[in-house]
Amino acid sequence: MKAAPLKGGLLAVGLVLSVSAAFGHGDVQPQPVDTTGLAPLGDAWREENPYRGDAKAIAIGDSGFNQNCARCHGLQVISGGLAPDLRYLPLGKEGDEYFVERVRHGATTNGVMKMPAFEGVLSQEALWAIRTYIEAKHEE
Ligand code: HEC
Repeated sequence: MKAAPLKGGLLAVGLVLSVSAAFGHGDVQPQPVDTTGLAPLGDAWREENPYRGDAKAIAIGDSGFNQNCARCHGLQVISGGLAPDLRYLPLGKEGDEYFVERVRHGATTNGVMKMPAFEGVLSQEALWAIRTYIEAKHEE
């Protein structure tokens, strides 16, 4: 009679282990981006890229993009077709507004999550650094 609850407990442990194994693939976990050296931006979201053209932001954005975005948008921002090719995103404020809206909220169509939301996952500094890198890769 005492065996039943114990069995249930073991089952639960097994479930927890398999769930963490499913999330254990490194490329699916958001990777932290070290933004040391960039001007802090505070909590209010900017409408325009505060780092445009900044070499340090481009370097930080390169690493941040290739770790967090490239598995869908392609290494070096060259899309393999899974997701839009961000080299063609408009330059300047027009592209900034579109960028920030999309990265903060992600993209869900008909209940299917196509792109995760990055607000609260990556900092505003990290996301604008990624935007700076994308602009540096821009093509017409
Ligand atoms: C799981 C795959 C995935 C990841 C990871 C991902 N995206 Fe996306 N992203 C997509 C898809 C799919 C779309 C197109 C969504 C749609 O249908 O509008 C998209 C759209 C966008 C757009 C709008 C482009 C356009 O032309 O419509 C931007 C900007 C963008 N992503 C930036 C990023 C950035 C920056 C990162 C990393 C911080 C990122 N994405 C990570 C899949 C992803």
